[in-house]
Amino acid sequence: MSKNTMKHLAIIMDGNGRWATKRGLSRTKGHEAGAETIRDITTYCAANPNIQTATFYAFSTENWKRPKLEVEFLMKLLDRYLQKELETYQRHNIRFLAIGDTEAFSAPLRKRIRLTQELTQNNTNLTQILALNYGGRAEITSAVNRLIKEGKQHISEEDISGALQTPYSDIDLLIRTSGEERISNFLLWQISYSELYFTPTLWPDFTSKELAEIIKNFEQRTRRFGGVK
Ligand code: FPP
Repeated sequence: MSKNTMKHLAIIMDGNGRWATKRGLSRTKGHEAGAETIRDITTYCAANPNIQTATFYAFSTENWKRPKLEVEFLMKLLDRYLQKELETYQRHNIRFLAIGDTEAFSAPLRKRIRLTQELTQNNTNLTQILALNYGGRAEITSAVNRLIKEGKQHISEEDISGALQTPYSDIDLLIRTSGEERISNFLLWQISYSELYFTPTLWPDFTSKELAEIIKNFEQRTRRFGGVK
C-alpha cells in the first residue's frame, strides 16, 4: 500500500556539462542529450495516472552568467525543443506551460513559447512546466507586488500561493541530479513540505527506470507536514 500519491514532481536537471566532458564532448552535446532526457521523463510522467504536473528547471536567472555562446546555444536548443516536442505534447495529451521571466528572451523564442502554450492549452493528461529565466525569490516578490497593486491591505499565505506563476502550488517530490544537494532558488514557496531526493546520476543518464524507483521510495515515506503520524 502506498502512503503517498505523487501529483506534482519537480526536477533540478544538473550535470549536462560533466556528462559531456567525461566523454570528451563539448558541453553543448550534454545539453542536447539533456533535452532528450526531458522528453523521456515527460512521456513517462504522462503515462502515470497519478502525476498531474512535472516542473523542470531549464534555465535559471543565474544561467545568464555562463559563456555567451553557451547561453545562445541553450536558447536555440529551447526553440528547437519546443518545435520538435509539439508532436509529443499532442500525441500524449500534454499541456505545456512556461514560468519565469521570458520577457528577456528574443521575440521569436517568446512567440514559440506563446504558440506552444496556446496549441496545448486544452490537453489534460499532464502539465509539463518549464522554468525559464526563473528564480524562486523573484517569483514570490512579484506575487507580493501584484497583490499590493491590487490594493490588498493584508496579505495571507493563500493570497501569495494564488498570485504565484506556478498554477499548481505544492510540490510533492523534488529531485536533483548529479550529486549536488542544493535548491538553487527553485520553487522556494512550493517546496515547503516537499520530499527531497538527490541522485548522483548526471541528468543525460537519468532514466524513467530510475524515476520509477524514486517514486516507489517516495510512496513509502512518512510525510508529517509538521504534525505527528
Ligand atoms: C545543466 O547542467 C543544466 C541546465 C543548464 C538546465 C537544464 C538544461 C537542459 C536539460 C538543456 C535543454 C533544455 C531545454 C528545455 C531544451 P550543467 O551545465 O550545469 O552541468 P554541469 O554542472 O555538469 O556543468
